[in-house]
Amino acid sequence: MKVTVVGAGAVGATCADNIVRKEICDELVIVDILEGYAEGKALDLQQCSSLLGFDVHITGTTGDYSRTENSDIVVITAGIPRKPGMTREDLIGTNAGIVKTVADQILKYSPDTILVVVANPMDTMTYHVLKSTGLPKHKVIGMGGALDSARFKTNLQKMLNCSQNDLQATVIGGHGDTTMIPLTRLTTLNNLPITDVLTRDQLDKVIADTMVGGAALTKLLGTSAWYAPGAAATMVLESIVRNKKKIFPCSVYLEGEYGQEDICIGVPVILGKDGWEEIIDLKLNAEEQEKFNQSAAAVRKMNAVLDTL
Ligand code: NAI
Ligand code: 2OP
Repeated sequence: MKVTVVGAGAVGATCADNIVRKEICDELVIVDILEGYAEGKALDLQQCSSLLGFDVHITGTTGDYSRTENSDIVVITAGIPRKPGMTREDLIGTNAGIVKTVADQILKYSPDTILVVVANPMDTMTYHVLKSTGLPKHKVIGMGGALDSARFKTNLQKMLNCSQNDLQATVIGGHGDTTMIPLTRLTTLNNLPITDVLTRDQLDKVIADTMVGGAALTKLLGTSAWYAPGAAATMVLESIVRNKKKIFPCSVYLEGEYGQEDICIGVPVILGKDGWEEIIDLKLNAEEQEKFNQSAAAVRKMNAVLDTL
């Protein structure tokens, strides 16, 4: 099994670190545009092999995509991150060019690969990759909802003082501060509806904190986060590589599901060897559907910017 991570920066390197620790593949290639950077990260990581006990062959390259040949799955983290005060949307002009170039280079050497898009604004970048490459829809997956759901669980845990592993909580919609939808009605703590455990005010605070989860970290760190994004991308990848059939909210192409079409946006999907294999079509109530429609409208507005580039 061969995996490539494009972008050896904060998220890409964390993702690579998790991939080798979990031995998700036997061959990992890291690519970056910055001279020597991916080579350095690969060598540093390879030197953890005997210390951490993993057997993965790791290579780094400055833009030589022939090294990525026959990759089964590729994670695209290449792109600029947000800085304090910036939204994910501010990144669109720069990152659209980067992800398109990267996807084209990757497909030249691995035409049958599965692409996991992380670069922001992630829903628009996923749509851009899908449309510009013409790949089958099941092979293009945007990672954002898995991260937002993990943040949702962290905020619930803070409020409840419980184990995060006892929580089932999903965030759907766009991966943006105003577009994501933490689904409190369907959230449970070991089968107990969360709406029976927390008050409306408490739930509203959890929702608000979750929606600005990325922005709060950007303010603290001076750039966007990497540990949880890297871990979330790894979990998405693992379910595909190991054909685990796990369910994560991911940005995928909708053709009528959730009342939307011609858009990539976060919905729960089953992830297995073929990429995203099935959309879980949750029965939203009227309020949730209205929020989903608004979220889709915002993502669509951003997608329209692609036509102006
Ligand atoms: P970073 O700046 O630490 O790393 C980005 C790397 O991409 C750099 O090493 C840069 O040299 C490289 N790069 C730029 N252009 C390239 C190209 N054409 N080919 C190959 N490599 C190239 O940024 P970080 O923090 O790793 O974030 C990466 C992206 O992921 C950003 O767009 C960020 O907004 C996004 N992100 C998305 C999340 C999500 O949940 N979808 C979560 C966190 C970050
Ligand atoms: C995050 O959610 C900015 O998308 C990035 O941390």
